[in-house]
Amino acid sequence: PSAIAVLTSGGDSPGMNPAIRGVVRAALHRGIKVFGINKGYSGLIIGDLEEMNSASVTNIVQRGGTILKSDRCEAFKDPAVRHQAAEVLKEKGIDTLVVIGGDGSLTGAHYLTLENDIRVIGLPGTIDNDIYGTDDTIGFDTAVNTALEAIDKIRDTALSHESLFLVEVMGRNSGFIATHVGIACGAEMIVIPEYEVKVDAISSQLASNREQGKGSSGIIVVAEGPKPGLTYDLAKQLKNHGQQPKVCILGHIQRGGIPSGHDRILASCLGASAVDYLCAGYNDIMIGVRRGKIVDTPLAQVIEKSKELDEALFQRALLLHK
Ligand code: F6P
Repeated sequence: PSAIAVLTSGGDSPGMNPAIRGVVRAALHRGIKVFGINKGYSGLIIGDLEEMNSASVTNIVQRGGTILKSDRCEAFKDPAVRHQAAEVLKEKGIDTLVVIGGDGSLTGAHYLTLENDIRVIGLPGTIDNDIYGTDDTIGFDTAVNTALEAIDKIRDTALSHESLFLVEVMGRNSGFIATHVGIACGAEMIVIPEYEVKVDAISSQLASNREQGKGSSGIIVVAEGPKPGLTYDLAKQLKNHGQQPKVCILGHIQRGGIPSGHDRILASCLGASAVDYLCAGYNDIMIGVRRGKIVDTPLAQVIEKSKELDEALFQRALLLHK
């Protein structure tokens, strides 16, 4: 590549900074100029970018959020706007863009390269872990650990007061965060969009827990699901079944914080690999990880296919409640 630009887009995730650092350091190591774009595609369109050097990424490996800032850019769905973005890059002598973000951001990258003479590489940056072509996404591990820390604390008060808590975790339409968090916090139940929830079943599980002498406190981990308010709806239904649940929405706390060691390593390796793949002539792909190995997947597949939750894992999680 003549020069590389890098941006972070969509919901931020812990590990975006080490990913940026990986891209910048690997590019500089190969003598390639690298530019940082501020505020995702919104910044790209207006030419808000500057050249980065090794000092630009000093002391960021441990920082949450993204030093480049992020945005959800509706305007980038318009081909004319994507053309404008490509022109901005060409004017600066940049022929390659690395996009760190989730599904929507990677879709934008795919269309940018299809319609314009700009090469793109995507990196999966989202806490949701809902990206096809990779077992893991940058930020997922940290988000799971952040939720766990909060739930362990909620468990203390739940036990003291013998209360039942519905704890809502993020994940958009997918139950990856909820399943992992549910297993790791020893939840009494996990509710995710991929499986129909039977309020009767939850209620009888809670009754059986009481019969077994487990007391009436409990944690039910609920994935936020496709529309807001689902956890409150579930609470209402459980009240109709004689339960007294309290609702706790963990919210954006799950997006912040120091990236875990796992996320720092994943992000650093994916960032550096992006530059390797670019130098090897690849385009229109996402770099991810499968069974511990770095792999590439065409962006067309990444955006068309959905990543299935591991059903065996979820079934095992259900067994652990009993
Ligand atoms: O995709 C990351 C995510 O945090 C989802 O889990 C959540 O549904 C969404 O972003 C929230 O987005 P926003 O901060 O724009 O409300």
